[in-house]
Amino acid sequence: KQVNYLYKSFLHENSFSLNNLSLSINSGEFILVAGQTGSGKTTFLRLLDTLILPSNGEINFDGQIINNSSPEKILMKVRRNFGFVFQFPQRQLFSPIVLDDVEFAALNFGNNKAEASKKAKEVLKQIGIEEDLWEHSVFNLSVGQMRKVAIAGALVNQPKYLLLDEPTSG
Ligand SMILES: Nc1ncnc2c1ncn2[C@@H]1O[C@H](COP(=O)(O)OP(=O)(O)OP(=O)(O)O)[C@@H](O)[C@H]1O
Ligand SMILES: [Mg+2]
Repeated sequence: KQVNYLYKSFLHENSFSLNNLSLSINSGEFILVAGQTGSGKTTFLRLLDTLILPSNGEINFDGQIINNSSPEKILMKVRRNFGFVFQFPQRQLFSPIVLDDVEFAALNFGNNKAEASKKAKEVLKQIGIEEDLWEHSVFNLSVGQMRKVAIAGALVNQPKYLLLDEPTSG
């Protein structure tokens, strides 16, 4: 549904980074959003993941309406459906150890430690991060490897939807 997002900051005087955005995405669709730098691609993804709320307008997520007064409880419910890979993996990873970072995402979804560990290892292998890196610090990885770890964290709970912000860069 129609959505606007207004950034209020010193740097950018009150201006809409998204204005009159309206689209629907159907189940099974694979959508690519392209646009010049600053055109609002990341803002769009953050709105979908309810990390930010529309200044006005609303989002209809599988029948659940999200607007700027939606309570946190509803937002949490919606967020569980998404795996989000941030544009900058350095801002996404926070655990010092690779395996812990991916495990944390699984623990958040109510898996016990053993399940979380098993799922994290499976998905790391699947994404091409081999065992010799699991105990490494994420901050010693290359940006490409960091991004893979972030992708593993997004996949580990088998979300219904994946939001990938520039997933191939690095
Ligand atoms: N936290 C913020 N506070 C204020 N303005 C912001 C903030 N984040 C983004 N903006 C501004 O909102 C606009 C849209 O930014 P956004 O990051 O969504 O664009 P983008 O299409 O993802 O760009 P890029 O291709 O560089 O990643 C830009 O003008 C940006 O400078
Ligand atoms: Mg961006």
